[in-house]
Amino acid sequence: MMKINVKAYAKINLSIDIVSRMDDGYHNMRMIMQSVALHDAIAVAVKKGDGISVRTDLRYLPCDDRNIAARAASVYYAHTGITGYHTSINIEKQIPVCAGLGGGSTDGAAVLRALNELHATGLRLETLQKLAEEIGSDVPFCVAGGTALAEGRGEVLTDLPPLCDCHIVICKPAFAISTPELFSKINVDKIRLRPNTDSIIEALGDRNVGKIARRMYNVFEDVLPKGTSAIDEIKQCLLDNASLGAVMTGTGSAVFGLFDDEDAARAAYDELNQTYKECYLTEPVGKLEV
Ligand code: C5P
Repeated sequence: MMKINVKAYAKINLSIDIVSRMDDGYHNMRMIMQSVALHDAIAVAVKKGDGISVRTDLRYLPCDDRNIAARAASVYYAHTGITGYHTSINIEKQIPVCAGLGGGSTDGAAVLRALNELHATGLRLETLQKLAEEIGSDVPFCVAGGTALAEGRGEVLTDLPPLCDCHIVICKPAFAISTPELFSKINVDKIRLRPNTDSIIEALGDRNVGKIARRMYNVFEDVLPKGTSAIDEIKQCLLDNASLGAVMTGTGSAVFGLFDDEDAARAAYDELNQTYKECYLTEPVGKLEV
């Protein structure tokens, strides 16, 4: 038996813009993605046999081929043509699910990296990212993570200057938001406010957290369904605690704030944690060597 442990890092979106709607119903995006230290712990083991099995410590997650990690293994084996192995994947979830933090996507990406290593197939980053496209729109970014501009469905990636050292508080309210539902609420011609993506990229280059944080914006916040006022409340609490900027990540429902001061971040975390169970104090992580 061969076994490997890998970390699957969560992502946040420093900004999300939607450029257009494509003919297939998907959207042409312009997003700034950032990996954070918050991660799921994944163990992948292969032995003689066949089939793929997934276990997680969250009872309500599907373990069949609806699980992105299982799909990633199928895609890897279909591409490499490797047969004769049973693959077991064990996922310890830390990243909240349905939060906009790429929890499922990053597990899938981590399985691609793990199998590439275990079977010593030496697939290059570009190849793994191509396989990742078959699994989900955010999976290509998650293969190596870091700081990147993601365009197209999310698969057209350009490395950006890494987000400088800062403290990140993430808080997810108890409800989840459906990604397809939120996309369906967007009328691309009626987006009132958009992030200035280029100026955020410039601020990343300046290594100025305040400048980055003040420019963060997510177009989905304008079309939030009823009953999601906690998102604004969390943002307000972060800002009241000296966050340099706070925004929803992905299609929610998690919100994060950037801080340059660790004590302020800790105070925001403590205050939010009195009301919300899913709070995290984390920091940026850089791009992985693949
Ligand atoms: O690719 P993924 O399975 O992660 O996408 C989930 C859903 O999000 C899609 O079914 C689609 O409704 C929406 N989506 C989109 N445009 C994108 C990415 C996702 O409309 N660029």
